[in-house]
Amino acid sequence: MDTTSSTTPNRGTWSSKVGFVMAAAGSAVGLGNIWKFPYTAGENGGGAFVSIYLLFVIVIGFSVMLTEFAVGRKTGISAVGAFKTTDRRWTFVGILGVLSGLLIMGFYPVVGGWAIAYIYKVSTGLLSQPDAIGDSFSGFIANPLQPLFWMGLYLFFNILVVIRGVSGGIEKAGKILMPLLFIILMIVSIKGLTLPGAMAGLEFLFKPDFSKIDSSVVLAALGQAFFSLSLGMGCMLTYGSYLRKQENLVQTTAMVTAMDTSVALLAGIAMFPAMFAFGIEPSAGPGLVFVVVPQLFAEMGGIGFVLAILFFIGLSVAALTSSVSLLEVVTAYLIDEKGFSRVTAVLTASGVMALLCILASLSIGGFGPTLFDTGAFDIFDLLTDKIFLAIGGMLVCLFAGWRLDRSELKKEITNDGKVSFPLFNVWYVLIKYIIPVAIAIVAISGVKAGFD
Ligand code: PHE
Repeated sequence: MDTTSSTTPNRGTWSSKVGFVMAAAGSAVGLGNIWKFPYTAGENGGGAFVSIYLLFVIVIGFSVMLTEFAVGRKTGISAVGAFKTTDRRWTFVGILGVLSGLLIMGFYPVVGGWAIAYIYKVSTGLLSQPDAIGDSFSGFIANPLQPLFWMGLYLFFNILVVIRGVSGGIEKAGKILMPLLFIILMIVSIKGLTLPGAMAGLEFLFKPDFSKIDSSVVLAALGQAFFSLSLGMGCMLTYGSYLRKQENLVQTTAMVTAMDTSVALLAGIAMFPAMFAFGIEPSAGPGLVFVVVPQLFAEMGGIGFVLAILFFIGLSVAALTSSVSLLEVVTAYLIDEKGFSRVTAVLTASGVMALLCILASLSIGGFGPTLFDTGAFDIFDLLTDKIFLAIGGMLVCLFAGWRLDRSELKKEITNDGKVSFPLFNVWYVLIKYIIPVAIAIVAISGVKAGFD
């Protein structure tokens, strides 16, 4: 074990570079790319949303991820400790991150459970009645009991992976199954593109109609960038704390960002042409991937059946490699700050998550408490995606820009001058001034528009 970046005996380090990139990409690539991105793009006008999203990913997402990796590796401790050991007054930024992790895990496993359920549903004949696929999905998620079973199973898999520790569990799962998912998405895209009327879908997704942009679209794009890249809640920071001193942070950031974004775009290409061909509304909402993709597979006959099963296995695993990173943030906090053993930490964290998920899952069928007519599922989603993550990202930038030393940051990012990063000054100005101001403007005007 590499002791330079490990401060407590029960924390591990990543055993190989490829393993780290795959695990960080595994955290980034998940339901955010394949479930959330397509329907959010659909609800926010398509091309215009996609172009702002891409701009945010490149300028803000890249910079914030590099910041999180650098701060994490420099301090070598999980999110809360990273802030606390530097300056106690910044501890709340880490706590906010742990809270975001808990809240995201209050709905993410519900959707992860749907993904596992669909492996079963496809195997037991879902595709044989293509016309019923849409109704079957809405009936399933509104059912009070069934989705709870699948959510529980999904959460159980998370617990297994995280209890086994960093290099043992997370790395292995990511390495094998991420490439598989990518290949399946390519096959689905090719099939979708051959359908009559497919081009209209591509045009919707990539031809920006800038008249559709308003402040809520811009906030949705910012939230999507943070959510998809796993930023703004200490996740990449915690991952960075396990990273060895000799790894190239800039290159790692570029690779993770590129992989995440290509999977999101590929998921869009897999779904929009088919949706237009099938006459499904782009604004169909969170059911998109569970309705459009099975319909596409149903068109393909026998091979479609096999591909559909593989697709939902891939989706479940992509979700799993993301949610284990969320569970890991809360777990690492309990281990590093509260002195819990790994097993107790994992069980405590997942216990709270299970309770939140029960509320979230029930809220879809209209059961349980609501706030301003919004159910638990949407509350957890809106709070994290639209507010907490962006604010967390802004605070990490402010922390690095104003509290840490410029020369220390430069040393960390360039590995003591061994790696060149010609854009260091641009990055520094971005995180110190531009990104915090930009996030504040987008968040305030977007949230205001939401209340109008
Ligand atoms: N990025 C993950 C996804 O796209 C979700 C996630 C958000 C994971 C924040 C960790 C932290 O599915």
